Amino acid sequence: LAGDDELHAKIMAVKEKLGEKLVVLGHFYQRDEVVRYADFVGDSFQLARAAKEKPEAEIIVFCGVHFMAETADLLSGADQSVILPNLAAGCSMADMADIDSVQACWDQLTDVLGSEPDEDGRLPVIPVTYMNSSAALKGFCGENGGIVCTSSNAATVLEWAFERGQRVLFFPDQHLGRNTAKAMGVPLEQMPMWNPRKPLGGNDEQALQDSRVILWHGFCSVHKRFTVDQIEKARSDYPGVRVIVHPECPMPVVDAADEAGSTDYIRKAIDAATEPTVFAIGTEINMVNRLAAEYPQHTIFCLDPVVCPCSTMYRIHPGYLAWVLEAYAERGEVLNQITVEDNVAVPARVALERMLAAKP
Ligand code: 13P
Ligand code: SF4
Repeated sequence: LAGDDELHAKIMAVKEKLGEKLVVLGHFYQRDEVVRYADFVGDSFQLARAAKEKPEAEIIVFCGVHFMAETADLLSGADQSVILPNLAAGCSMADMADIDSVQACWDQLTDVLGSEPDEDGRLPVIPVTYMNSSAALKGFCGENGGIVCTSSNAATVLEWAFERGQRVLFFPDQHLGRNTAKAMGVPLEQMPMWNPRKPLGGNDEQALQDSRVILWHGFCSVHKRFTVDQIEKARSDYPGVRVIVHPECPMPVVDAADEAGSTDYIRKAIDAATEPTVFAIGTEINMVNRLAAEYPQHTIFCLDPVVCPCSTMYRIHPGYLAWVLEAYAERGEVLNQITVEDNVAVPARVALERMLAAKP
């Protein structure tokens, strides 16, 4: 295996050679050794837009996870190729909703709730998928009057959906769905969770009729680790601490925090603090450690004392980056290309474009 210096030299040489033809995108959760090569670092919403806004690049190397690279392929031009340096970089939450289970849920829901609009033209249910989902689910939303959201625009997107529907089916992340709907004033009893093991009938049917948001049972294994106890400990160790968590955290954690927001929200909140402040952060450790190094005037630490990286984000290593970059620069070979087939891509783009139009 090549050493760090050798990998660095290889990656820099390819970046120099390809210039504007190459763009490297990096999610905030990527390790520092990868982030240093990214032309743009952002949250999943910003990276989706960045992919769309770089028409001069022939190659988009996405340092993130599979669903993000798929989104980049959906939003980039036909003559651009998207590469995921390690194909094993998936997202366990995205894998918690597959198209067959969502379709089966939809069929049962529409049996109970119908599919005809009411007198105001609102459909009985609008599907909303979190960006952290396969392209097939985005396509499903595009085909069924639905939309995509990210953690930075979930409330805007839910408003969009409530204008067009009486209720929302939100997947895969139950926590983002619950936290966002609760902040918008939806009572908890109007948020039943879809249970695939329980056929509809009796009370379930009534709960669905009365619902505003039907949640899916997905969650993020990283954000599920944050607890109210950790927040209480931070408050007792550092009186006056500002606690900010990602909305993928469970509801009691979001409620106990001072603020909740996307990765970019967290970064901006720290950036905007003018006085030295203690921040306890509930999100992935690579991002928290980077923020702590970038803002030495503040005390910034992760709420979870046991290191909690996103293990799949971590699968992108500079070695993989060097490998895919060299193959393209030297042999024109596009390794680990992510492509979404047209039958899925066309409706998935509809759902993504609705999201991009919902938030300028
Ligand atoms: P952001 O949309 O905040 O970047 O989050 C993506 C993600 O995967 C969080 O776990
Ligand atoms: Fe998926 Fe959680 Fe990793 Fe985000 S942090 S990519 S939701 S597993």
